[in-house]
Amino acid sequence: APVAPPDLSKCHLATDAANGEQGYCCPPYSTADIKPFVPPTDGILRRRRPAHKLNRKQIEDFERGIQLMKELPATDPWNYYQQATIHCTYCNGAFDQVGFPDVLLQIHGSWLFAPWHRYYVYFWERILGKLLNDPTFAIPYWSWDTPEGMFMPGMYLDQSSPLYNDNRNHNHYTALLDYDYTFGAPNPTPQQYEEVKIRNLKKIENMFTETIGAPSLFLGGPLSAGQEPKDIAGALENLHGLLHQWTGPEAIPRHDMGNLYTAARDTMFFGHHANVDRLWDIYRNLRGNKVEFNSPDWLDASFIFYDENRQVVNCKIRDCLTSENLGYTYTTERQAWKDNKR
Ligand code: C2O
Repeated sequence: APVAPPDLSKCHLATDAANGEQGYCCPPYSTADIKPFVPPTDGILRRRRPAHKLNRKQIEDFERGIQLMKELPATDPWNYYQQATIHCTYCNGAFDQVGFPDVLLQIHGSWLFAPWHRYYVYFWERILGKLLNDPTFAIPYWSWDTPEGMFMPGMYLDQSSPLYNDNRNHNHYTALLDYDYTFGAPNPTPQQYEEVKIRNLKKIENMFTETIGAPSLFLGGPLSAGQEPKDIAGALENLHGLLHQWTGPEAIPRHDMGNLYTAARDTMFFGHHANVDRLWDIYRNLRGNKVEFNSPDWLDASFIFYDENRQVVNCKIRDCLTSENLGYTYTTERQAWKDNKR
C-alpha cells in the first residue's frame, strides 16, 4: 500500500539527528477538514528564474514576500518559521505512519523525496504569491548545475535582506562550489576554477546518463506503507545533500542548511530545492516524458499540506508528475553539462 499522510492528532517530539536532541515541530493545528488537492486550473504558468539573473525589482518582490511571511503571527501556518518547520515534521520523526505506530514517517531516502519536496516548495511559492497579491509570482532557483550558478547567489548574501541567514559557512560566501567538497576542504583557487567547473558538470552529466534507464537510481528506491525508511536515496538526492553540507556551517549540529532538522529556516533551501525539482523536470524530458514509476505505491502515496487558501489538502504523487500540471515551469537555461567536452 502507498504511504499515507500522518494522523494530525498524534504528533510527537522530533529528533535532531546530529545531536540527538528532541524538539517540537508539530503543525500549529492538530485537526483539520482535509480536502483532496486539485491542481490549479487558472491557466497561469509561473516562471521560476535562476537566482543570479533576477533583476532588482524581482529581488525586491521576493524579499517583500519573505518579510511578510516573517511578520505573520508565530502560530500562523503561513508564518515563515512554521513553513520551515514542516520540513522537520516530515524528516525528523514527528509522526508515525498511520497504522504502523513504530514506523516513523520519513520522506528522505526513497522515491518520496522528489515529489514531497515538489509539493512543499509549490505551496511555499503560492503562499508567497498570495501575500504579494501576485498570482504569477515565482520563486528563484539556485542553478548550481551551471557554471555561473556554482556560487552562493548574491541576493542571499546581503546582510540587510530578509533572505539573509547567518548560519552558513562564511568561507563559502564567495567560493566556487566543488561537488567533491568534504568538510574542511580548502576552497578551489581561481586557477582551479576551470577544472572544478568541468568536473562538476561531468558529475551532472554522469548523474543523468547513469540513471536514465533506471528511475530508482535517480529518484530513489521504493518505499511502501509500513516500511522502515531504508535509505535508498537516488543520485539526485545524494548530490543535493552535498549542497546542504557546503552551505551550512561545519560545526555540528550544522544548523541551518547542514542539518535537515533546520535546513528550511534558510531561504536558500527553497532556491536549492527549486533546482533539485528542475533537475527532475530535465530528467523527465530526457526520458521522453515517461512516468518514472507506475506502481500505485508511488502514484498514490500522499502527503498533506496547508495550502494558499488556508485549506489542508491531501496531495497524491500522481498530481505532481510534471511541473506544468502544477502551473509552473523553469526558464530554459543552457544545459552546460551537455556541451561540457574537452
Ligand atoms: Cu528535505 Cu534538501 O532536504
